[in-house]
Amino acid sequence: MNDFSPEWLDLREAADARARNADVANAVAARFALRDELTILDLGCGTGTNLRATAPLLPSRQIWTLVDRDAALLDTAKGKLTRWADRHILEGDALEIEKGGRKIRVVFREADLARDTGVLMDEGAQLITASAFFDLTSESYVREFAKAVAARGAAFYTTLTYNGLQKWTPHRPADNQIAAAFQRHQMRDKGFGPAAGPLASSHLIDQFRINGYVVVNGESPWQLERQDRMLIEELIRGYAVAANEDGSLDEKTVVAWLNVPRSAAFVGHTDVFATPA
Ligand SMILES: C[S@@+](CC[C@H](N)C(=O)[O-])C[C@H]1O[C@@H](n2cnc3c(N)ncnc32)[C@H](O)[C@@H]1O
Repeated sequence: MNDFSPEWLDLREAADARARNADVANAVAARFALRDELTILDLGCGTGTNLRATAPLLPSRQIWTLVDRDAALLDTAKGKLTRWADRHILEGDALEIEKGGRKIRVVFREADLARDTGVLMDEGAQLITASAFFDLTSESYVREFAKAVAARGAAFYTTLTYNGLQKWTPHRPADNQIAAAFQRHQMRDKGFGPAAGPLASSHLIDQFRINGYVVVNGESPWQLERQDRMLIEELIRGYAVAANEDGSLDEKTVVAWLNVPRSAAFVGHTDVFATPA
């Protein structure tokens, strides 16, 4: 399973939905409550999880542009949104869906956000959003991004940005070594310069405030238990692979850590909503 396989994104969708911070989500809903229509740009959309979770907070008519550099994920997103909808019509490359009384038009775009974010924002979206994306970007990307969003007067909402906290049950002494190796791996360049990793949310909050935005933020951790066994196992495998690639631990330590059965896991995330003052 690679980092962004549809299987991995499927596995995490229910945990992501449960984890979203309700106070931040309520602030989003309140901000747009008096509007009939909203245009939205979703960065790094994967299989469309963010649209499915965010659409219920937004007005009755929504026009979404879903962007990813992976054409196969965009195809999967189209299929999943079609099945999620109460009704749907395909209009060329776009999808018109009805869901829970809302009418949602979805346009799909293959693009590299390291290069094309500004051009996509020029299309005039009123809300720029993302989920589990910003920890892949860099401090300099976030700085330019916040400036560009502010220059266009758009609102910004991002969920599930990894914030570096992790706790496994039962705890093992090697957890801390694995966490440090994973963190270093997280900060490798993912196409945007040295990745912000667990610092991404702090950079977003700082940069939007510097640009005069009002920021609401809150924690959205995964609190995984026995019923999330498959996600816990997949997470542990992913952490072990990353720790191994980091190269700072001997393989025996990583394999022994991988083989400890875990009954619960806590993984920290942060949600951020920023609006022009
Ligand atoms: C962790 S996944 C999150 C997907 C989705 N937002 C979700 O919450 O399930 C990160 C997504 O960002 C996309 N991505 C990463 N780098 C990108 C880039 N430079 N341009 C466009 N998309 C990118 C990946 O293809 C992947 O779909």
